[in-house]
Amino acid sequence: MEQLKGFNPVFNSKIMKVLTLDDFDLKDKTVFLRVDMNCPIDPDTMEISGTKRIEEAIETIKSLGEAKLVVGSHQGRVGNTDYTGMDKHAKVLEKLMGKKIRYVEDVIGVAAQNEIKNLKGGEILLLDNLRLCAEENYEFSPEDAANTIMVKRLSKLIDLFVLDSFPSAHRSHPSIVGFPHVLPACAGRIVEREVRNLDEIMTVAKAPHVIVLGGSKVPDRLEAIKLLIQNGRADHVLLTGLIGNVFLRAQARIRYPLGIKKEEEVVAKAHALIGEYPDVFSTPVDIAIDKDGERVEMDVRELGAGDKIYDLGPKTIEYYSKLIAGAGTVFISGPAGFFEKENFSYGTKELLSAVANSMATTIVSGGHLTSALKKYGLAEKIDHISTAGGALVLYLTGEKLPMIKALEDAANKYRSK
Ligand code: 3PG
Repeated sequence: MEQLKGFNPVFNSKIMKVLTLDDFDLKDKTVFLRVDMNCPIDPDTMEISGTKRIEEAIETIKSLGEAKLVVGSHQGRVGNTDYTGMDKHAKVLEKLMGKKIRYVEDVIGVAAQNEIKNLKGGEILLLDNLRLCAEENYEFSPEDAANTIMVKRLSKLIDLFVLDSFPSAHRSHPSIVGFPHVLPACAGRIVEREVRNLDEIMTVAKAPHVIVLGGSKVPDRLEAIKLLIQNGRADHVLLTGLIGNVFLRAQARIRYPLGIKKEEEVVAKAHALIGEYPDVFSTPVDIAIDKDGERVEMDVRELGAGDKIYDLGPKTIEYYSKLIAGAGTVFISGPAGFFEKENFSYGTKELLSAVANSMATTIVSGGHLTSALKKYGLAEKIDHISTAGGALVLYLTGEKLPMIKALEDAANKYRSK
């Protein structure tokens, strides 16, 4: 391990048992940096509509200044409208950094390999969407991930692997668990900060634990909710957004199909969860719909098929705010409505204010809410803010995330040398 300079206090502390960038001399080394630049994409223009995650990646990229740097990320999921190439990300990164970013429309082929081989110290190469490589769409054990063609081909060209894609820490894809199995690996600045802050917060977090959940990745959320409850991390689950609508359907308070993927399956799962934990869940009692651009508030039982639910109503906000005020720990993920439209920002703004003004330990998750906090000037009052969504929810369940396990295993290998 010629690059290993020695262990720094972070490695030795009880908080974090992984190596960081401070443990390596990176000059002229070829480094693969796995980031999460998975950004919201406007479906009409197919342009990036929020660059927060690209902005965040810059700190680690700058820390790797003298290395020959290969940057890789996924964008969207195959089959979804946000699944695109990384050309737009390269342009945004170049503009934000004021520095040339090389970009190759390839991931593991000859073109990508040649670009990597030709890199010079200080140069940055962005690969195309890692999910273009079929293997990156499957979950593997670290051993099997290390046997993928992606890891076998690219690891030959790389000296150090840096994991900094905290929002994907719950995925066991080749680029998360495969490379660290065969290469020296350490955490980038985002992962280092997230894990240290979250570990500290979780040691002081008190009950009752109030979870405010919105967001669109409903199947993932349903799995996480169950674990949160089982592990004593969710005394109250206050539902908003699309997942709130799924639970309203499960309670037969919405009686028409919502038109979402695998709808009957997710509604049945929500139904089972309510049956198993009847006192934990709260669903909206009133909402606001969009009627020809106008905000119209109503009781959920008045909803008709085709009504577009864009926000929560005042009775729901009052009830949710009371539970938040009495919490020991609050975790909020996913906006309460279409907060980008002024008419429908009420619910998101009020819930974030309730969280910011509570005496609880507070954690805010996801790119949308991070932007909303900034917009409403509330960021200073929050204990921990993260652009991660599903990964953070799973982290809070207390389960070991594949990325953290991969980093710990990589560190342990070199600790014993
Ligand atoms: C996220 O936005 O949650 C991460 O980028 C992970 O994306 P995924 O859920 O498509 O794996």
